[in-house]
Amino acid sequence: MFISEYTEIEKNGLKFLKAIRSDKLVEKKGYLLEFDDDIDMQLAIFRIKGELFCLSNICLHRHASEIYNGIIRDNTVTCPLHGWSYNYRTGENVNTKNGKACLKTYQIFEENNYIYIEKPEIKIPKWRDINYDYNEDN
Ligand code: FES
Repeated sequence: MFISEYTEIEKNGLKFLKAIRSDKLVEKKGYLLEFDDDIDMQLAIFRIKGELFCLSNICLHRHASEIYNGIIRDNTVTCPLHGWSYNYRTGENVNTKNGKACLKTYQIFEENNYIYIEKPEIKIPKWRDINYDYNEDN
């Protein structure tokens, strides 16, 4: 689905999309939300101990779209491919030897049996920009 096809609401001055039904989000099992606007516009949604979290699904290591399949432990989600771990509240990469990179996080809430996520901005990721400096994040 394209972003423009979602029902949009405003709350606290931010725009949110009515993303999925609440029963689709199972405790500690990530849900992948993809948008047809761009192949790298993907979000990973989690319900952990009753709290909701939403992060970019694109790992900052090799840009694999696997965060939703990550292992949840000690306030982190760990990419299943090579083990980069991110704080699921802040998106921060917890192993600083991998640099200071941070996954983008999005606000999320649940209301009337639906999960709402902060409307993401569609833009080409910097690693697909031909002028991108790979040393910038590390
Ligand atoms: S792609 Fe995620 S750790 Fe390598």
